[in-house]
Amino acid sequence: MDKFVISGRRKLKGSVSISGAKNASLALMPATLLAGGIYRLSNTPDLKDVTTMSRLLESMGVGTSLTGDQLVLDSSRITSQEAPYAHVKKMRASIYVLGPLVARYGRAKVSLPGGCAWGPRPVNLHIDALQKLGAKIEVKRGYIHATAGRLIGAKIHFDVSSVGATGNTLMAAVLAKGTTTMENAAIEPEITALAEFLVKMGGRIEGIGTNKLEVEGVDDLHPADTATIPDRIEAATFLTAAAITGGSIRIDNVCPEHCASVIARLQDAGCSITSTSDSINLESPGSLRPVDVSTAIYPGFPTDVQAQWIALMTAAQGSSVVTDTIYLDRFKHVPELVRLGADIQIRNNSALITGGKPLMGTMVMSTDLRASASLILAGLVAEGTTDVLRVYHLDRGYEAIEVKLRSLGADITRVSGEEF
Ligand code: UD1
Repeated sequence: MDKFVISGRRKLKGSVSISGAKNASLALMPATLLAGGIYRLSNTPDLKDVTTMSRLLESMGVGTSLTGDQLVLDSSRITSQEAPYAHVKKMRASIYVLGPLVARYGRAKVSLPGGCAWGPRPVNLHIDALQKLGAKIEVKRGYIHATAGRLIGAKIHFDVSSVGATGNTLMAAVLAKGTTTMENAAIEPEITALAEFLVKMGGRIEGIGTNKLEVEGVDDLHPADTATIPDRIEAATFLTAAAITGGSIRIDNVCPEHCASVIARLQDAGCSITSTSDSINLESPGSLRPVDVSTAIYPGFPTDVQAQWIALMTAAQGSSVVTDTIYLDRFKHVPELVRLGADIQIRNNSALITGGKPLMGTMVMSTDLRASASLILAGLVAEGTTDVLRVYHLDRGYEAIEVKLRSLGADITRVSGEEF
């Protein structure tokens, strides 16, 4: 277990390239189960979650090799339709194999993901949708057992907009017989990227990018190549990191449109921001203004940037309220930020932040991926040294974050040791 040691109070300056999107890769990779053959996915981030998905697919017979950012997957010989607990417990996105397996092979056995660090995360919407498509599903002894003949298109309305359920259902519906309509489908860019990839593979999908998708099932799909979209959450993390340190940076290999809600709130906080088609420049103001945010489905403010925003608001001059409407309990980072000297109260699903209190470095503990990012941000402005323990959470979703931060002038070192 590694830790990061950060010496704070250095302004970030310079430019950094953003990696491919974790959440897009995790959807594209299992789509290769839908048609046997060789796929090349460029701009793939080298992350622990991508490795976990590779190991899961390998356990089913898929060949994988990542060279630089080129991930090659060979799904010619699938030997198993099972996703064991050993893989799924490491990463909930493993559930993405369910849809493709049941659609192509008529059977799947996938471990239930269970909860996560900040509370329950059910998969009922995934199961309900596959049942509507004709799959027989039994949940017993911690596993989802699905069987089906050919799936049949159906009308599906999601009561809650879910990224994962939309992705899983799309991957099943492309091989179903007849038409599937999906209402209140997720429109996150990672879902749009998956839908576009499925179209490249021969899928027939209308309404891509809207919350009503219409899928005309086909008999067969074929392999395709694609480039993974840039990671909008990593982009937002670097922008907030620059803002909290009073720095000025440019991030490259981004899609500014995907970051629009975060850019707008950073501008409200006083940051000056300009964009090109694939880069964003941010200059921090002398002092940050407090800005309330409430997370929402895309194009709203992402829940995956909530923790970083709370860290940013500890440095603003005044009080702000950050509300999470997607995950009501996602505040494990708050007690750790308080240990650094932040003044934050939790009321239901909101954090009330009184900014402007100086943070002082100490030891803090990562509890999940984005919570860890918020602790790094706090460490970058804290006086003295901050040790962020258990950074394996960060390695799940940020490619070489310490190398990238160092290139911007941060003083951050990874230290390896069992006791962290
Ligand atoms: C994805 C992202 C995650 C992000 C989240 C919300 C991936 C791999 N992960 O997670 O980083 O934080 O979107 O943007 O892409 N829900 C149900 N039943 C279900 C499924 C979801 O009630 O069967 C609820 C969840 O509890 C949550 C909401 O729906 O309140 C949205 O969750 P969802 O969009 O499904 O998140 P994930 O796909 O798991």
